[in-house]
Amino acid sequence: VTYEHILLEHRDTVGLITLNRPEALNALCDTLTKELTDALERLEVDERIGAIVITGSPKAFGAGADIKEMQPKSFADVYLEDFITSTWEAPAKSRKPVIAAVAGFALGGGAELAMMCDFIIAADTAKFGQPEITIGILPGAGGTQRLTRSVGKAKAMDLVLTGRMIDAEEAERIGLVARVVPAEELLTEALAAAEKIAAFSRPAVLMAKEAVNSAFETPLAEGLRFERRLFHAAFATDGQAEGMSAFLDKRRPEFNNR
Ligand code: HXC
Repeated sequence: VTYEHILLEHRDTVGLITLNRPEALNALCDTLTKELTDALERLEVDERIGAIVITGSPKAFGAGADIKEMQPKSFADVYLEDFITSTWEAPAKSRKPVIAAVAGFALGGGAELAMMCDFIIAADTAKFGQPEITIGILPGAGGTQRLTRSVGKAKAMDLVLTGRMIDAEEAERIGLVARVVPAEELLTEALAAAEKIAAFSRPAVLMAKEAVNSAFETPLAEGLRFERRLFHAAFATDGQAEGMSAFLDKRRPEFNNR
């Protein structure tokens, strides 16, 4: 498939989605959002794909929802179309690991998109912010929720109420991003991480992701119970037999994704 505002590539076991609307710094217009959802749905059902990377350009991962498109909308418009989350939760819904590789601006909906991914690898040029307050609105795709859960109240309030941008170093310090790398190594590093994940036993990978995510949805005792059920279930997979045998035989495991 070819899209207007994104590029979709299969790099062996990794699906690479590049947001490609340079004239608007990857502002997330309606078309881009729908294309992103479509691409993620394709990768989700593609058995060859074990992990996904979403990236933007060196200048911008994404400058937010498209302000030109939003400007004329009324309450009834956004309410009735459930703007914008109805078309938007695709990265958060994906069962396969999704890594955001962020360089340049990740603002508003762009930052929220990055936070919907499982983790963020940032270039040293990355800048994160929730500037919605500066245009008379507030974050609407998880910026008050996922951000608060990942960095805590003090930093979330600071960012959401002042709209200020933080650089990659501060983003890593407060726990918003997993790693910071030199800009020229961003894609290599993100693809390497994704390839590594894709090479592990797929049921184990999906279970691990599901278990970590349950930490955000459940009380500790429930989460621990859920983890233990999945942990026990992992012993029903070929991956457990192969992974442990390979370790004891001092050879590399060959997982069949069963
Ligand atoms: C539409 C945008 C845009 C946006 C940039 N552009 N951001 N168009 N929506 N969010 C366009 C500009 O209009 C301009 O087009 C071109 O991209 C280049 O941008 P410049 O501003 O000239 O670049 P620069 O001076 O380098 O400044 C970069 C910037 C700034 C700091 C990122 O563009 C900016 O502040 N953008 C808006 C950021 C923002 O407020 N995002 C939150 C949106 S609200 P022309 O045609 O003039 O060349 C939101 C809500 C989400 O995301 C709710 C649920 C999803």
